[in-house]
Amino acid sequence: MNILVINGSPKGAGSNSYQLTTAFLEGMKQELPDIQTKELFISRMDIKPCKGCFSCWSSTPGQCCIQDDMGQNIQDLLWADITIWSFPLYYFTVPGPLKSLIDRQLPMVLPFMEEKEGQVGNGNHPSRYDMSGKRTVVISTCGFYTAEGNYDGVYSLFDHLCGRGNYTAIFCGQGELFRVPELSARTDEYLSYVRQAGKEYGKGGISIETQELLNQLLLPRETFEACADASWGIDRKGAESGRESFGATRESDTLIFTRQMAALYHRENYPGKDIVLEMYYTDVDESCQILLGRDGSHVYTDGSLIATTRIETPAAVWRSIAAGEIRGDEAMMQGLYRVKGDFTLMLKWDSYFGSSHPQVKGEEAAQSQKNTNMNILLIPWVVLWIVPAMHRQWGCLMSIGVCALVPLIFYRNKKTVYDVLTNVLVTGISIAMLAGCSEKWMVPLSYLFFGLMWLLSCPGGQVPLTAHYSMNSYGGEDALQNVLFLKTNRILTMLWGILYLLTSVFTWFMMRTPISGLVGLINSAVPIFMGVFTVWFQKWYPAKVAEGK
Ligand SMILES: Cc1cc2nc3c(=O)[nH]c(=O)nc-3n(C[C@H](O)[C@H](O)[C@H](O)COP(=O)(O)O)c2cc1C
Repeated sequence: MNILVINGSPKGAGSNSYQLTTAFLEGMKQELPDIQTKELFISRMDIKPCKGCFSCWSSTPGQCCIQDDMGQNIQDLLWADITIWSFPLYYFTVPGPLKSLIDRQLPMVLPFMEEKEGQVGNGNHPSRYDMSGKRTVVISTCGFYTAEGNYDGVYSLFDHLCGRGNYTAIFCGQGELFRVPELSARTDEYLSYVRQAGKEYGKGGISIETQELLNQLLLPRETFEACADASWGIDRKGAESGRESFGATRESDTLIFTRQMAALYHRENYPGKDIVLEMYYTDVDESCQILLGRDGSHVYTDGSLIATTRIETPAAVWRSIAAGEIRGDEAMMQGLYRVKGDFTLMLKWDSYFGSSHPQVKGEEAAQSQKNTNMNILLIPWVVLWIVPAMHRQWGCLMSIGVCALVPLIFYRNKKTVYDVLTNVLVTGISIAMLAGCSEKWMVPLSYLFFGLMWLLSCPGGQVPLTAHYSMNSYGGEDALQNVLFLKTNRILTMLWGILYLLTSVFTWFMMRTPISGLVGLINSAVPIFMGVFTVWFQKWYPAKVAEGK
């Protein structure tokens, strides 16, 4: 199968629309590995405008009188089984040079008038060649926030050329975002849908689900427009003092960057208290403040606000982080930037400024977005430690019952390997005690198992046990990529593990004293203090690292 790509952007391979086209082709190739492709870059070609002389219909039938690249283009169009037209939207239609290529297809049709079944408009010329079975794909980006309502000219053109709807179209608004590395999380996500569309097209057609994903906005309108406006580095208010000279003075790069960052703020995640983020760009000695409030974000340059969180960094480092070239947490561990003040903002950064689009990730992602729940892990152990001490037989039966019930009660939560292990261990210990094994051995052993479970999750590149649960408060599974988050959790998991190893020894002795029945209660009090310490440490430790201490 032969595929011809016609790239009508003056930017050639650097075109936004071409990024979508490349992704679409990649998807197609996954399904049809044997396809042959040829790409025409109009920006590099000599295609003169049609002279309107009709010599291609009269004196030299099928041949244009102009000698340029169009002769070969027609051969390529005839060669192709599928033609992919890729171009930006210019003044609500195709760019001029592409229009010239379309006009110059006149030699491909015969001069006679005919009515074609299902034709759009009134009038049609029969093709000079057999074009049956050839297919068309149209891929385009535009600059406004949505493609909706802006492509009527393009739809009309291709309806006339191919027959109404007789082509596949992917039109995407906010096209300029595809060249913003800082937003690659969202644009790459969109490109993955285009790739999927290409794959499905290779199988026969794009599914409704994928089409719906393609129709989603890259960013919400308000965010996009604020971001786009900020990118020009021109204060909008300047327009009021004279439109003709508007734009002569440009804001500094760091201010533009700060404004764009502010534009990404998700005010729906407003924490209930205003945050002032101060960005101090050390290399240019400039600071900007972003007020994150209930009604949105505002940028200040006069330093008039009291910062809640201050980030000190060279602008280049921050740009690299924003562009995804280096992870923020890695940069922090390497001492490339410092954070002063409240560190909570850093821990919840993605929920305030993340550019991915959680609601469009589909069923599979919805599954992975289910939260884990530490109660699933703790409840069976706590029951095992307290109830059998009151009444051995009923207590053990109750522990087994809890193990059976917990998965039912928490069926909406995602299970971890430690939840499953808990279930197996608590059930096993309860059965052993029912079968007559002495609690003097089984209870200390249960603490030992519990402690080992925590400790053994710490070494090497493993995700420490607490991280599986605390990630819910720090952006979900993405937090598991965060070096600082993992390190904090590794320390905490080790401390908890050691505590329970010591508890098992302590319990072994206690079980041999007259107050052995109170062991469960005494041992439940110690973790309360450790819990308070955990809550404090989770904030204190990353903040200390961020301060460069
Ligand atoms: C001359 C010109 C006209 C444009 N006209 C429109 C337009 O009518 N509607 C729109 O949404 N965007 C318009 N744009 C924005 C482009 O469509 C947008 O930047 C697109 O993503 C560029 O794609 P490319 O990188 O593939 O060339 C225009 C841009 C230029 C330079």
